[in-house]
Amino acid sequence: MIEKFGLREGINEVIGITIGEWINTAPLGIIVDDEVKVRLYSNHTRELLEKTGELYVNIIHDPVVFVVSAFEDLDESWFESLDPPVLRNAMSWIKFEADVRDNFTHLRFVEGKITGKDVISVNRGFNAVIEAAVHGTRYAAGKNPDLRDKILYYGRIVQRCGGRREKEAFGLLLKYTGIQL
Ligand SMILES: Cc1cc2nc3c(=O)[nH]c(=O)nc-3n(C[C@H](O)[C@H](O)[C@H](O)COP(=O)(O)O)c2cc1C
Repeated sequence: MIEKFGLREGINEVIGITIGEWINTAPLGIIVDDEVKVRLYSNHTRELLEKTGELYVNIIHDPVVFVVSAFEDLDESWFESLDPPVLRNAMSWIKFEADVRDNFTHLRFVEGKITGKDVISVNRGFNAVIEAAVHGTRYAAGKNPDLRDKILYYGRIVQRCGGRREKEAFGLLLKYTGIQL
């Protein structure tokens, strides 16, 4: 069922949306093997899921959305609809019932819809933004200085292979992390 909406075996990088007093957004890796689950660190997504048990995910290919939501919540202007929460240019959305346990939060499909029709090729610049953003959130949390080199390595791929949107996303990542070239 979830394959239809774009989730496939392995780890799927998506935007997770939880609703509380505000709309909380964060990139998440949805793991699909025999079951569907996500490993949640201590963050607002986890806090809200413990209260509501409802996780929405949006599948989207906008690198700026990944970087901004990694460091702050996307405000309403990023959304095409709020109920269900669907970001502009999302390809699909899925609602899950979430059961938060220690290591993994288990997800049960409730409903979903395909909202986009774009066909998208693999772009190393986009992939590099995602890699840099993963390291960027860890760097911002702990300032492990080794991660800076990794982020800059991915930045070179973004410059070579990415389009305008990837370069903009990487520029924002440098700002959020305070990394200077
Ligand atoms: C591509 C990508 C994937 C991520 N996957 C996860 C994940 O699976 N679980 C998690 O807890 N954090 C993950 N993160 C980190 C969170 O998105 C980040 O810590 C975010 O600030 C949490 O926001 P929140 O406090 O609003 O929930 C990921 C970050 C990126 C860039």
